[in-house]
Amino acid sequence: MSDQNPDARTEPTGSTHAPPCVIVLAAGAGTRMKSRTPKVLHAIGGTSMVGHALNAAYGLGPRAVAAVVRHERDLVAGHIESMDKRTIIVDQDAVPGTGRAVQQGLESLDGESEISGTVVVTYGDVPLLTARTLKDLVDHHEAGRNAVTVLTAVLADATGYGRVLRGEDGNVVAIREHKDATEQELSVREVNSGIYAFDAAVLRSSLREVTAENTQGEMYLTDVVEIVRGHGGRVAAFVIEDRWQVEGANDRVQLSALGRELNQRVTEGWMRAGVTIVDPATTWIDVSVDLAEDVTLLPGTQLHGATVVQPHAVIGPDTTLTDVEVGPGAQVVRTQGSGARIGAGATVGPFTYLRPGTDLGADGKIGAFYETKNVRIGRGSKLSHLGYAGDADIGEYSNIGCGNITANYDGVNKHRTVIGSHVRTGSNTVFTAPVSIGDGAYTGAGAIIRRDVPPGALALSIAPQRNAEGWTLAKRAGTAAADAAAAAPSNKPKHTESTQESDHS
Ligand code: UD1
Ligand code: CA
Repeated sequence: MSDQNPDARTEPTGSTHAPPCVIVLAAGAGTRMKSRTPKVLHAIGGTSMVGHALNAAYGLGPRAVAAVVRHERDLVAGHIESMDKRTIIVDQDAVPGTGRAVQQGLESLDGESEISGTVVVTYGDVPLLTARTLKDLVDHHEAGRNAVTVLTAVLADATGYGRVLRGEDGNVVAIREHKDATEQELSVREVNSGIYAFDAAVLRSSLREVTAENTQGEMYLTDVVEIVRGHGGRVAAFVIEDRWQVEGANDRVQLSALGRELNQRVTEGWMRAGVTIVDPATTWIDVSVDLAEDVTLLPGTQLHGATVVQPHAVIGPDTTLTDVEVGPGAQVVRTQGSGARIGAGATVGPFTYLRPGTDLGADGKIGAFYETKNVRIGRGSKLSHLGYAGDADIGEYSNIGCGNITANYDGVNKHRTVIGSHVRTGSNTVFTAPVSIGDGAYTGAGAIIRRDVPPGALALSIAPQRNAEGWTLAKRAGTAAADAAAAAPSNKPKHTESTQESDHS
């Protein structure tokens, strides 16, 4: 960023200024999105565009923030209130234009008594703008004792933007909208970002002079620049080199490009903070996620919402976690998870579906092809392969066998399964909840547990096995199976003695 205003004063003013107020413009329709969702509610990096604008605004430590709404008023206002209740919602009336939006925003900020000091105006659809940039803009504005400071950028293609017109001495004299510009004005490549710092009193009085006499019949906020100049006020430009920060998303192509750029910035930030990201291009991290040093993210990892990852955990490849807490040293491979907690040193995956309420203790395991929901799993317990655990409490160091299922739903109500510590369950055990298994108990393979199992008991619920000898030859003669059976060295069962469950009754 550089100071392009020759007459801006450079002497420091100290911190005598009151914190600024911010007006966020979010009343526009955003028709080019072709969406039922209002433009400013479209999200990148897990946060709506207006959410990014509010984050930047509140990052200034402002006196107050007002958001101007009109299109889909209830949806937009509701969303803004859900993000930060302090925000003053301002309804723009039928008069169109950024000038009118700011005028009404300022009236709301004024309330009983007129505010003084700096007012920052920003847009709800410029998601990469940072609080740092707003702070620099305000500092520059206040240090220069300007009436207006416009954040500008020099673009290769300035089509559609308001052009920044400078006098012979380099001072900003006006902003001309693309639709109102002459050929010569259109050749200017310095554009108005739409983000400004104003002196409140100057803004208030100049807006009274703004009319709608232009090609679009709108009250242009940009007219304030010429009006202020006419009264001898000081107008400066603050040029930003990082054009992404002032880029708006008008359609979904721009939204996607901004989303990728944001993600690049977020992944780079985490790498600089000590996170290994093998492939940033396929790793997507919401701005709300928190990562510790020495976390490793493998390709195809997506971390969303309030996800937190502790040191030395390894996530991925191909893992999507939303609102998941991953403990130190845990490993999460090819997993889809939400609303879950994974303890220190625990392992999850591959091909695992963690649903809300899953709480895996330290050094525990939820293995391949498992689905879990509302289940507390104690330290060191393992659910290694192929199963479903829902509405269950499992103690410590228990081993849940392959293919175990909690039958938690009777078609009307959900019921809990309670399994103690050091339990060993056989393959394909079904727990018909509500049911409890005591500490140190075992279940046999294929057991269907309908009644509580006391501590230390072995639970068997297997129907006795009966072998109908010679059945294939008699009933399936001529098939490959019958031929194989006939050719077998002995068609007598090999383990007659051990098949105690053969049914001769
Ligand atoms: C505006 C600027 C232009 C600048 C460009 C940067 C004006 C007159 N022009 O043009 O100089 O280069 O932004 O992107 O200010 N809005 C309201 N109420 C309204 C109209 C707009 O709140 O009545 C909000 C919109 O939701 C949007 C922002 O103001 O967030 C800008 O509106 P838009 O119509 O996109 O302005 P541009 O014509 O692009
Ligand atoms: Ca625009």
